[in-house]
Amino acid sequence: MSSFKTIEWKDDRVVMIDQRILPIKEAYVECLTFEDVAQAIRDMVIRGAPAIGVAAAMGIALGALKSRRKDKIEFLAELKEISTVISNTRPTAVNLFWAANRMMNLVNENKDKDIDWIRDRLVEEAKKIYEEDIQICKRIGRVGSELIKDGATILTHCNAGALATAGYGTALGVIRAAFEEGKGVKVIASETRPFLQGARLTAWELDKDGIPVTIITDNMAGYVMSNGMVDVVIVGADRIASNGDVANKIGTYSLSILARFHKIPFYVAAPISTIDFNCSSGDLIPIEKRDIKEVTHILGNKITPDVEVLNPAFDITPSDHISSIITERGIAEAPYSKSLRSLLS
Ligand code: MRU
Repeated sequence: MSSFKTIEWKDDRVVMIDQRILPIKEAYVECLTFEDVAQAIRDMVIRGAPAIGVAAAMGIALGALKSRRKDKIEFLAELKEISTVISNTRPTAVNLFWAANRMMNLVNENKDKDIDWIRDRLVEEAKKIYEEDIQICKRIGRVGSELIKDGATILTHCNAGALATAGYGTALGVIRAAFEEGKGVKVIASETRPFLQGARLTAWELDKDGIPVTIITDNMAGYVMSNGMVDVVIVGADRIASNGDVANKIGTYSLSILARFHKIPFYVAAPISTIDFNCSSGDLIPIEKRDIKEVTHILGNKITPDVEVLNPAFDITPSDHISSIITERGIAEAPYSKSLRSLLS
């Protein structure tokens, strides 16, 4: 396990490592209210699909804990409002909605219980979602490690590690498991403009664990693949449609094309909670557009002229570019409409 905590429930608050300033500074943000948690998700203090799912659950629990309502109807109405605020923070990663729904289902199934009971159960449930996420990532790691050969060089994009989950990671979970099994793996982390999750976060957490990592800028991926420097690509996912199309960090689609061209296996590692069975294909997944300042500014300094700028945070990788989807319940392969559903039984 990693030596830091991405997110933690502490008595009456939620504490998160501040991912905006890593690796320059290891600092923590304390959220005292559900609004603080919502702001932290929006501002990317915490990011990564499973991690924002955990944050959403803890945010709702924190809202319930701090509520002053004495009247049950008013308390339930407030919880609904809290869940809406949390759900409106970021649109793409389905884990956010999955966690909010799980918390609100608990409320709806226990409307007859008193306020204190509901409050306690919500806090327990959020802690459970956190613990489960760590165990799920470890299972993804064990399952996925079977696909990794001794000595493999693995290219990963963005950060799908301990920082993007409650701990251990999905794509990095597979890498960690392979490393722990003694396979001499090496990692190439693409920097992941504009937020630099690869260069700042993936490189930081792998280096902390002693896993060899080399950073490249995003536009070097073709160079390393065409020079035989990559054996396999593994990425995480923010949402997987029921046909196997994957929404993940912007740039994932381009990597999938390069991998296909160079006949390099392209794996996606994600928990079942990232699969949206209500979404039949990738073009139905909402893509978050973030502030253009992420592109136009570096360390607070404007580096571009005043022209139009795009900043979509995610793209869609079509299922036929994906060799396998690794989950805690096993590995799915094409045709994904069938194989993903069969993981549920
Ligand atoms: O914008 P971010 O940093 O939240 O995007 C994160 C990613 O795209 C990750 O690859 C994805 O959430 C998988 S994390 C296990």
